[in-house]
Amino acid sequence: MKRAINFNAGPAAIPLEVLEKAQSEMLDWKGTGMSVMEVSHRSKEYEEMHNHAQALFKEIAGMGDDWKILFLTGGASSQFFMLPQNMLLEGGSADYLVTGHWGKAAVKEAKRFGKINVCSTERDGVFTSILKQSEIKTDPAATYVHMTSNNTIFGSQWHYWPETGPAPLVCDMSSDIFSRPFPTDRFSMIYAGAQKNLGPSGVTVVAIKESFLAKAKEDIPTMLSYKVAAANNSLYNTPPCFSIYILDLTLGWIKSQGGLPALQKVNDEKARILYGAIDSSEGYYACPVDKDARSQMNVVFRLKSEVLEEKFVKEAKAAGIIGVKGHRSTGGIRFSIYNANQVANVKSSVDFMKDFQKKNS
Ligand SMILES: Cc1ncc(COP(=O)(O)O)c(C=O)c1O
Repeated sequence: MKRAINFNAGPAAIPLEVLEKAQSEMLDWKGTGMSVMEVSHRSKEYEEMHNHAQALFKEIAGMGDDWKILFLTGGASSQFFMLPQNMLLEGGSADYLVTGHWGKAAVKEAKRFGKINVCSTERDGVFTSILKQSEIKTDPAATYVHMTSNNTIFGSQWHYWPETGPAPLVCDMSSDIFSRPFPTDRFSMIYAGAQKNLGPSGVTVVAIKESFLAKAKEDIPTMLSYKVAAANNSLYNTPPCFSIYILDLTLGWIKSQGGLPALQKVNDEKARILYGAIDSSEGYYACPVDKDARSQMNVVFRLKSEVLEEKFVKEAKAAGIIGVKGHRSTGGIRFSIYNANQVANVKSSVDFMKDFQKKNS
């Protein structure tokens, strides 16, 4: 069996150890004689695992008892409307720091629920930078401030945590969660679709501080209510059991690697190797993102022409390097080097890049 070098942006690579563990437990999970997909979500075994995943998430993030971990469905995209729907009261407003496609998508949904103020780095439909602290203007009376820590499509990432004033800070961490330590006490809520650094698609993790949750509205549809999800431990209805199970195993893997400081070291190394190859290619490969805003998770770059980029994608695939075509809205090349991608994968991909350059110059 040969595993692909998987640079897909999401769903993305899952650690081999996680897949092997799931494989070994597939037919008989915890001595039940059933797979985890076949047991009741009201069973003792399931509930233990569900609670374990929440506790492990908090432990890895360094979150105390004042945080609630919710397992929701509908993808990170559903948080774009659930957040304002739950939190924005009549006449309320929120501030959005927009540095990419997904932040912009979040604004579109939030505008349905209240007044939204936007600070954006968009220039002619393109995002190549992160807001500087001096560019951030927030309203102290805003209900919350929203940001996206890593821009999956445009390949940029916040490398500092902005001062945003007294309003609660909410962060969409879908594409860099648990790739590095972060100051949990700066946030009131973070959320992430699991399918990049946390496991498979199907579950969205919402971590919310109880003080922020307490301000959520009551009168909204049951399945869209943060308060209902929290009061029922995300078990009001049937949760995405298998996705949560793989999430639990992935969190166990993160802990076994040494947690966030250890993963950050590996991620720094992968990014150093890859950007090093781009910068030393004498312009053959070019990264359009400002140097101080380059993403450690989604490395984007261009070649001289689209024809050459197409050839690159095709030959990479033939060499076992999968998922390198840039997002359809931006074109170019994107290597998504999430936690599960090892340094060795990046090294052999750089060898491929050098070889491609030699043959196609
Ligand atoms: C930063 C970010 N936010 C939100 C989303 C949307 O996630 P989902 O497909 O789970 O709705 C994505 C998807 O790639 C993303 O990268």
